[in-house]
Amino acid sequence: MGFYDDRILPRVIEVTCGGRGMDGLRRRACAPLSGAIVEVGFGSGFNVGNYPPEVTSVAAIEPSDLAWRRAAARVASSSIPIERAGLDGQRLPFDDHSFDGALSTFTLCTIPDLSAALSELRRVVKPGGRLAFLEHGLAPSTSVQRFQHLIDPVEGALGGGCRLTRDIPAELDAAGWRIVENDRFYGKGVPKPWSAFNLGYAVCPG
Ligand SMILES: C[S@@+](CC[C@H](N)C(=O)[O-])C[C@H]1O[C@@H](n2cnc3c(N)ncnc32)[C@H](O)[C@@H]1O
Repeated sequence: MGFYDDRILPRVIEVTCGGRGMDGLRRRACAPLSGAIVEVGFGSGFNVGNYPPEVTSVAAIEPSDLAWRRAAARVASSSIPIERAGLDGQRLPFDDHSFDGALSTFTLCTIPDLSAALSELRRVVKPGGRLAFLEHGLAPSTSVQRFQHLIDPVEGALGGGCRLTRDIPAELDAAGWRIVENDRFYGKGVPKPWSAFNLGYAVCPG
């Protein structure tokens, strides 16, 4: 990681993704989960406090040491045990079928090999387990899509590899996840290229 990605980016992400206004969406995203879950791209821990009481433990996957350090107070305040269990969603250090569910918020845009990460999540989640997601992605409207394609290289450079143009439902389908619910909408107060949200969950067919 370079200086920007290492020292600055986690703070930028906190400003763009960490607002209190996101808590309602985060709570909705986490609601379908229960039992032991793996959370990819844990970041600074903004989902802590939004997990439902049915969640019993969280295995956090996060490459950034700074983000993990900045999550410390939230992790310490959680009544649900949370441990940093890995660094890369593309290669998870767990046996098959280790988890009851998985969570990703604003991370499927960033993981370089998304197909590998979604396959890994399928491998480590039990058959019938849920992958809950809250993600921005390719907008439904072609005019917004055109702008997203135009600025994607800049977004990638400033956003740690974040892509605006990933078709999240198509990626989930292609990786074999069965989408059960997906609410697609533009988030309030954020320009459309960055707020074409997908909020829902998919089931691991086994
Ligand atoms: C935009 S942030 C979202 C953080 C957090 N999920 C949230 O909702 O606030 C994307 C996160 O994905 C992490 N990330 C990047 N590459 C990753 C990878 N290969 N595996 C797991 N996480 C990754 C980044 O370090 C960053 O914390």
